[in-house]
Amino acid sequence: MTPPKRKPKIHIGHQGTLGDPFANLADDVRQGLTKTPKELSPKYFYDAQGAELFEQICELPEYYPTRTERALLEQIADEVIASCRATTLVEFGSGSSRKTRILLDAMAHAGLLDLYVPIDISEDILRQTAHTLSDDYSGLRVHGVIGDFEHPVATLSEGGPRLIIFLGGTIGNLTPDEATAFLRNVGRLLTPEDRFLLGTDLVKDVSLLERAYNDAAGVTAAFNRNILSVINRHLDANFVPDRFEHLAFYNREASRIEMHLVARESHQVWIDALDLAVDFAESEWIRTEISCKYTREMVETMLAQAGLHLVRWDTDQDHLFALSLSESVQ
Ligand code: SAH
Ligand code: AVI
Repeated sequence: MTPPKRKPKIHIGHQGTLGDPFANLADDVRQGLTKTPKELSPKYFYDAQGAELFEQICELPEYYPTRTERALLEQIADEVIASCRATTLVEFGSGSSRKTRILLDAMAHAGLLDLYVPIDISEDILRQTAHTLSDDYSGLRVHGVIGDFEHPVATLSEGGPRLIIFLGGTIGNLTPDEATAFLRNVGRLLTPEDRFLLGTDLVKDVSLLERAYNDAAGVTAAFNRNILSVINRHLDANFVPDRFEHLAFYNREASRIEMHLVARESHQVWIDALDLAVDFAESEWIRTEISCKYTREMVETMLAQAGLHLVRWDTDQDHLFALSLSESVQ
């Protein structure tokens, strides 16, 4: 007799037929470094070292988003799970999934926890996290997807109802057009019984915002420069990260923090895989990240443009960070 087929507890695969999520790195770098002003996509921060530096950022006293969002999740997790009865949790940009455990715990306590689908561009942290979570939650199946959440996914997972989450304020790292395209894809994937939980950093006092991206220990500066090491390794380039200064400031008109790397002196960088020489003038910038900050109205508008309807809004008493729960407008 053949034994009954058991569903695998852990499965890690690439997104559809897309394969390596760093496949566009060469084209993106060529495009970004040959235009004026120069620009790199923040999705390339997260090699193993970048993911580790981000974890350190989350522990910094100046970086309020992580602890504020964690406290909010602790407050609302049971109620959210009781209202949507999700058995599957799908997470975009899952990283270390530390805060996600609050939702997994709530699902387990409600007797609902079945499947977790973390989706991340950073393969090392995705694999490591999938194994740790599978060890820590008996009975939980983890189906990780190594992929770029900017590429629309056709289907998300079997099972449901599903809670789809996008935490940390990572949506703020997308331009408004990219964010709308991302949310439209989420809106398309939601069934009437699914819910979408979004974490957004809020507009606030500029000095508080700027301190969060200019920590005294210099971890954010190291995170910023790490993108150059990623390019060195993947594209055989000869960037010297210390020839660039970290610069982060709030752009009020665009309602966003901007991170830049500023050349300390004029010099040339050779990118062998692109057969490309890139000239930097003294003080010339590469913009490496935007981190948009929102009001409730901005979040609601963004959701509505994507066919999503806000059903719950939670923020801390200082209005630093917000979690919004939405459903698809059928
Ligand atoms: N959600 C976690 C991690 C946030 S850091 C938290 O709230 O703490 C941002 C995460 O998104 C990283 O793990 C990074 O690898 C991932 N990421 C960034 N851009 C991505 C993209 N385009 N596609 C998939 N994952 C991406
Ligand atoms: C992942 N993302 C939401 C972080 C942010 O705040 O925009 C990345 C980061 N950049 C500098 N510090 C943290």
